[in-house]
Amino acid sequence: MDKIVSLSKRRGFVFPSSEIYGGLGSSYDYGHYGVLLKNNVKDRWWRAMLQERDDILALDSAIIQHPEAWRASGHVASFTDPLVDCRTCKLRFRADKLEDSQCGRKPSKHPGETPECDLTEARDFNLLFETTIGPVREEGSIVYLRPETAQGIFLNFRHYLQFGRKKPPFGIAQIGKSFRNEITTGNFIFRTREFEQMEMEFFVPPPKAQPWFEHWLEQRMNWYEGLGIRADHLRLRAHEPDELSHYSSATSDVEYLFPIGWQELEGIANRGDYDLTAHAQRSGQKLEYVDTASGERYIPHVIEPAAGVDRAMLAFLVDAYDEDEIEGERRTVLRLHPLLAPVKVAVLPLVRKDGQPELAREVYERLRDRVQAEYDESGAIGRRYRRQDEIGTPWGVTIDHRSLEDRTVTLRDRDSLEQVRIAIDELADDIEGRLREPWRSPKLGG
Ligand code: GAP
Repeated sequence: MDKIVSLSKRRGFVFPSSEIYGGLGSSYDYGHYGVLLKNNVKDRWWRAMLQERDDILALDSAIIQHPEAWRASGHVASFTDPLVDCRTCKLRFRADKLEDSQCGRKPSKHPGETPECDLTEARDFNLLFETTIGPVREEGSIVYLRPETAQGIFLNFRHYLQFGRKKPPFGIAQIGKSFRNEITTGNFIFRTREFEQMEMEFFVPPPKAQPWFEHWLEQRMNWYEGLGIRADHLRLRAHEPDELSHYSSATSDVEYLFPIGWQELEGIANRGDYDLTAHAQRSGQKLEYVDTASGERYIPHVIEPAAGVDRAMLAFLVDAYDEDEIEGERRTVLRLHPLLAPVKVAVLPLVRKDGQPELAREVYERLRDRVQAEYDESGAIGRRYRRQDEIGTPWGVTIDHRSLEDRTVTLRDRDSLEQVRIAIDELADDIEGRLREPWRSPKLGG
């Protein structure tokens, strides 16, 4: 994990937030390549939800909702984690995650493991972030920053029945920021207080809930594998009954083998009719599906794949991180799936003279029309390649003296290091063709 954190900072993926003021625990800012990578992750998710199917619609709901929404959803009463204080070191820990925490005085030990540790009884701590709305702070002005994007979907369910002309089974998907006042954060962007979620609520006739639950387990595993995550680092784990969230009758987590062990990447839950029923009761509005032809009416059940953008990005970075040796020199390389790579192609003139930069710029400007490209003429060619390898650029184009004679360039592959000569006029089509090819992590060998 330390290597990922240091590469992320060095190459402008992720920086600790507010660093000039000493940082704010567990807040991170995404730099240029971080934004590009994150956008690609979200883009592939939208694509899988919207473009490759015709039963899901998109939503972007408000972060601050009516506070009644969070009372109805159960978050005000039940969105808690068990908290313990240590009277000796004055730190707070999640009682159910002591084995993931470090003792405040002896970081090699867990809280409660040394004779000096003096932990209180566990008590419930609500994770909702509160703020007030309007210029006067008073009881009625309290609102919450959403702790999940899901509720915005339930609040808009009726609109989708009307304008979307959908009948179950159908889904509503959204991506957006969520906020939780987590007791313990850490492990870089794995658990933070402000993060982005990609959630989809799939409304189904109640008797069809189980087959759709299984459908989404399979779809979501395939999504991660299709984007190059090694299958032996990915697994599904069903929640034990005592682990289930207050709204769930069944949940399975997609887990990834992070450097900190197997951890949740995404939760896929059967929420039953919990949310629509709760909002119908509290709002007094009918939240049900009525079949106008048959008169049949029912409250759909909901299958929810809920993923974290930041956590997915961390898994993609971890899975891609590699070190090898080229001509006796150590190289760090991100073997990202080309579709996720922040930059698809780098254009590099071999030398900064003899008309090479001008031709390279022309090639770059043609390429950037079609794919995210980067132009770099500064420093030795080997160093420029190392830099592109570290940000995971799958292809490098070198312009040399021959390019000026016959308008061909060298195309270098990040993983195989194979170099081929190719006509400038064919370059963009060739790269787009390569982007469409199936891809398998070179870390799997063979
Ligand atoms: N609507 C259901 C829900 O929010 P969740 O398991 O609490 O379920 C879904 O969250 C996903 O959101 C998680 O699998 C994880 O990827 C991400 N996530 C949750 N809390 C997070 C945090 N504090 N920091 C980063 N990502 C988080």
